[in-house]
Amino acid sequence: LNYQTARFLTSAPTLAQCPPDTGAEVAFAGRSNAGKSSAINALTRQKSLARTSRTPGRTQLINFFTLGDDSGRRLVDLPGYGYAKVPEAVKREWQQHLAEYLRGRHSLRGLVLVMDVRRPLTEFDQTLLGWADDQDMPVHILLTKADKLKSGAAKSALQQVRSRLREWEDLVTVQLFSSLKRQGIDEAGVRLDDWLAD
Ligand code: GTP
Ligand code: MG
Repeated sequence: LNYQTARFLTSAPTLAQCPPDTGAEVAFAGRSNAGKSSAINALTRQKSLARTSRTPGRTQLINFFTLGDDSGRRLVDLPGYGYAKVPEAVKREWQQHLAEYLRGRHSLRGLVLVMDVRRPLTEFDQTLLGWADDQDMPVHILLTKADKLKSGAAKSALQQVRSRLREWEDLVTVQLFSSLKRQGIDEAGVRLDDWLAD
C-alpha cells in the first residue's frame, strides 16, 4: 500500500465519536512520548501529518488518517498512556476506553505498539499485550528511537524483547525502528500491508 497518500480524516475526543466502523484500520498505541506520531509521519513520509511534541501527552484526541481518498483504510494515532501528570481517574478512564476500542472496533486489524527501545515492555505495555491476546488481535512492536543506541545495543534489546515475548510469538512481531534515521520503515510497511490489504 502507498502510505504516502495518507491524509488527515478526523479527530475524535471519545471512541463514541470515531468514524464509522467499516473498512480496515491499524492503530498506533504506546506510552506517552514513545514516538507514535513520529512513526506515523515516518511511515507516510510526511513531516507533520501527525502532531509530534517534546512534551509528553501531546496527542489527546484519537486522530484518524485515511489512505488515499475513500479507500476505507485508516491509520489511527491513539493518545499515549503512562503520562505522570495525568490524574489517576483520567488514566483509568482512558484505559477503559482503550480496552473497549480493542474489544469493539471491528475494522481494527492490528495494533502497532510503539516502545522506546531504551524502555520497552512497561507494565501497561504488557497489560495491552494481554488484552490484544484476549482478542486474538495481532500486534507489531516498533522499538523506536533505535538511533539513540549503538547498533549492538539495539540488536541486543531486540533479542531481549523477542525472548520475553516468546509465549506470544504467534501474535506478536518485533522490529527496530527510528523515525529520525528512517530505519525500519519498509519492514513496518510489509506488516501493515498484511493487515490492511483487503
Ligand atoms: P504522545 O502523543 O504525547 O503520546 O507522544 P508520541 O508517542 O506521539 O511521541 P512523538 O512522536 O510526539 O515523539 C516524542 C518525542 O520523541 C519528540 O521529541 C520526537 O522528536 C522524539 N522522537 C520520536 N521518534 C524518534 C526517533 O526515532 N528518534 C529520536 N531520536 N527521537 C524521536
Ligand atoms: Mg502523539
